[in-house]
Amino acid sequence: EWTMDRFVETEIERIRALVGPTSEVIGAVSGGVDSTVAAKLMHEAIGDRFHAILVDNGVMRLNECQIVKETLTKGLGVNLDVVDASEEFLTKLKGVEDPEKKRKIIGNTFIEVFQREAAKITSRSGAHVEFLLQGTLYPDVIESISFKGPSQTIKTHHNVGGLLENMHLKLIEPLRELFKDEVRELGTNLGIPEDLVWRHPFPGPGIAIRILGEVTPEQIDIARKADNIFIEEIKAAGLYRKISQAFAALLPVRAVGVMGDQRVYDQIVALRAVETTDYMTADWFDFDGKFLRRVATRIVNEVPGVCRVVYDVTQKPPGTIEFQ
Ligand code: XMP
Repeated sequence: EWTMDRFVETEIERIRALVGPTSEVIGAVSGGVDSTVAAKLMHEAIGDRFHAILVDNGVMRLNECQIVKETLTKGLGVNLDVVDASEEFLTKLKGVEDPEKKRKIIGNTFIEVFQREAAKITSRSGAHVEFLLQGTLYPDVIESISFKGPSQTIKTHHNVGGLLENMHLKLIEPLRELFKDEVRELGTNLGIPEDLVWRHPFPGPGIAIRILGEVTPEQIDIARKADNIFIEEIKAAGLYRKISQAFAALLPVRAVGVMGDQRVYDQIVALRAVETTDYMTADWFDFDGKFLRRVATRIVNEVPGVCRVVYDVTQKPPGTIEFQ
């Protein structure tokens, strides 16, 4: 009979046998469920011979980097290096408006930064890094079998082939037989905080694809603050787990408004919240009017530069979950 306790035991044994008594493992963490669970499992199996790397790409959510860092190190005891590469990412994103270009820049820069950081670890004296950890789940395994080669329809940011080759690493994927709900159960079993276990998915390119138009520090600041208010209110209303994914996006147009006695011409925040099981189809979440009123009032009052808030009521299909 399959139980989660037994899975943890056998998986830890399997990792230990595969990695052996002296080899080391590196892996990227993002704060998402999959990479966190994979990292914690690895830590349980081989302790500090697992090195996690968190790359701050400058387009994570408000205070997210700090929160993820503390959860992983103080909370879970994982051996973690944090790299602040935000300037490098933002410099490369300057002037870029096309969403696919944003994705490519962020994906490629991530690989460069990660590789540079990994090289620092592997070149430490006595280090014997042999494996790269990936939090691949069963559905990802199926996807990569059924779509052979690069496809325009898959938005990849985890292009690890080159990484493995350049660094002569072998892949280790302890979650490759699990579905999402099983990963959450495993996470709970390993003592990962509820907040993290039930976290909404967050795209690799982060809020860069939620800022329609150029990604500047000012726009990032606005998008982060608006998003944070929306998520805070969702949590306060006890709706976070009912919703599959929610976020604020910043539209690239301005609207007129009256703030105090002043006529302003400021930005528009679009809120999106969906329910879905497979992320292939999705329905917008039916908030009550009072909730939306509260969020809109707070955003307009608390986020300078925003004078209007709209809520997206488009299903997927035809609308996608993200705006870009
Ligand atoms: P769409 O917008 O295609 O999104 O309906 C479906 C799911 O995929 C996520 N998404 C991404 N995740 N890199 C990612 O890691 C990306 O470039 C990307 N684009 C979309 C989206 O957040 C949703 O969960």
